[in-house]
Amino acid sequence: METKIFAKDQIDEAVALLREGELVAFPTETVYGLGAIATKEESVKNVYKAKGRPSDNPLIVTVSDEKMVERYAKSVPDRAKKLIKHFWPGPLTILLFVKEGSLPTAVTGGLKTVAFRCPDDKLTHDLIAKLGYPIVGPSANTSTKPSPTTAQHVYHDLRGKIAGIIDGGETRVGLESTIVDLSVETPIVLRPGEITPEEISEVLGEEVLINTGKVSDKEIPKAPGMKYRHYAPSAPVVVVDDVNDFAKIDFNDHIGVMALEDELDKIDLPKANKFNLGRNLVDADHNLFSGLRYFDDKKDITQIYVQGFNEGQASLAYMNRLNKAAGGHHF
Ligand code: TXA
Ligand code: MG
Repeated sequence: METKIFAKDQIDEAVALLREGELVAFPTETVYGLGAIATKEESVKNVYKAKGRPSDNPLIVTVSDEKMVERYAKSVPDRAKKLIKHFWPGPLTILLFVKEGSLPTAVTGGLKTVAFRCPDDKLTHDLIAKLGYPIVGPSANTSTKPSPTTAQHVYHDLRGKIAGIIDGGETRVGLESTIVDLSVETPIVLRPGEITPEEISEVLGEEVLINTGKVSDKEIPKAPGMKYRHYAPSAPVVVVDDVNDFAKIDFNDHIGVMALEDELDKIDLPKANKFNLGRNLVDADHNLFSGLRYFDDKKDITQIYVQGFNEGQASLAYMNRLNKAAGGHHF
């Protein structure tokens, strides 16, 4: 299959392909998503195939507005309305009970809940509004690889497997949306993202829990996808939590380093072995997946050291993704 790249003004062609049941990748402010009309079961199944994704890992339903949520959620509680009003369009995904029979089980993985997201991206908003149907929106990468932050990343992973990619340039945030579960008594953040638990708590005026991924005797629902290996390049990744530890590493030409500019400057390695994460944590969020992909393509690199951050809730999302890429391995 030929994978077409669409420019901003070619949305109508993408809409036509989606209506025919084809898969089209789309930009969002977080990462690129892999779209198929959420009510077309066959197309949704093909999304799993294209990504190589286990079928028990449910998909996000990407909508253009709150009205679309009402069609597929059992109800939209006040808490959800507050969050939607404050954060949408934006990088917050909300878990609600699904209206039975309104979506194929391939979307929900057979769960009683469904994840709704309304991205802050005009192209994608217009695409969904034109379709009149929500589209599923898992990240448009091959399963286990870092999420794509450019159309080229999507092309690299899914060329020949999907009908098209809408090129909206580099994504703004670079890490996937915050997921908050509102189907439980106390809201819980299942996946950290740009919007922090504190910010959600402030808008709701109530306590918000954070899923740490640790097993406790209290049954905590988790995002099924979080249990899988993720984001990992082919070479092992090690997190360097204290930047002073970079000086202790015995560098050679097979080592890659990802760090902020100021730290990289102090390290004696060829330019090709260094990936600049930028000047601060926001830049690092934006660049993390690109860096992991950069080294994934360099087969002579056998070990990658990546700078860690300890900036409270602001660094939760970055550290969550980096810890997964590193399999929990710290210097
Ligand atoms: O920023 C994002 O959210 C991106 C862009 C493309 O919108 N999408 C994204 O989708 O990251 P995906 O499929 O790569 O990650 C969604 C996560 C998975 O870990 C999945 O298990 C979880 O959300 N999830 C989906 N539906 C769920 C449900 N009903 N209950 C619990 N977790 C759910
Ligand atoms: Mg993903």
